[in-house]
Amino acid sequence: MKPESYIDQVIEIATRAGIQIRDIYQTGNFEREIKSDNTPVTSADIAAHNIISQALAELTPDIPVLSEEDADITLAERESWPRYWLVDPLDGTGEFIAGSGDFSVIIALVEHNRPIVGVVYAPMTEVCYYAIAGLGAYKRVKGHDTRIMSRQIDLKDDSPLRLAVSRRQDPQSVIKLFNLNKHCELVVLGGAALKSCLVAEGRADCYVRIGPTGEWDTGAAQIIAEEAGGQIMDLALQPLTYNERESLENPNFIVVGAPHLAWDQILTAGS
Ligand code: IPD
Ligand code: CA
Ligand code: CA
Ligand code: CA
Repeated sequence: MKPESYIDQVIEIATRAGIQIRDIYQTGNFEREIKSDNTPVTSADIAAHNIISQALAELTPDIPVLSEEDADITLAERESWPRYWLVDPLDGTGEFIAGSGDFSVIIALVEHNRPIVGVVYAPMTEVCYYAIAGLGAYKRVKGHDTRIMSRQIDLKDDSPLRLAVSRRQDPQSVIKLFNLNKHCELVVLGGAALKSCLVAEGRADCYVRIGPTGEWDTGAAQIIAEEAGGQIMDLALQPLTYNERESLENPNFIVVGAPHLAWDQILTAGS
């Protein structure tokens, strides 16, 4: 089955999970716990996980689902998978709890260790970003699709470098990562996936994430960024890998909007 034949169903599943998250968010009535990795999880994460896992299993019974909230599957088991759904039911649990509204639902399809489909749905703005390998990246608003492209910035221009940063990040710590004599403008937004999509649609030039980032955070973002003419790499400026030991042990990442730039000279973080 070609991804274009079921992309609308995947978007519908992400939307349904997002509406459930939004309903819970708006009531303010949810439970929260701290997981063994010391990160929070809420009843909204679990509700979205249940909707997506069940719906994907019905849509494609032969494709396994790996979700952040059910990632207890051995690498040996996963290595035999030619393809799998890679799901982050609620990206931005911290933003959800803090009440900023910057959270999303992420669904990616990984085939032969490369994401080939990516969907990121933001329930509070009702915006969906999606991409299919070879067919482009799009932003869907009220059923209307627009093709998105990242900005191919020329560092010699006068225009500032626009950096996507988290609400809770110290902007100076991000600016310090750049070896540039250039004015930087900050675009503040929560959630790894939404910041990546911001770069993909050219509203920011770069997002650097320092710290552990799961493969479910980057799967959809990677194909969306690439199909929008951008790229996404780890901090050693190497491509991200999926379903391999490397991606589990070296989970830092960076999104770059302009592949033509010499990021090894611009960025001090990886050196
Ligand atoms: C996290 C969020 C956060 C980012 C972390 C992620 P989660 O995902 O995207 O913005 O800084 O790296 O792990 O746990 O809320 O799904
Ligand atoms: Ca989490
Ligand atoms: Ca996440
Ligand atoms: Ca999550």
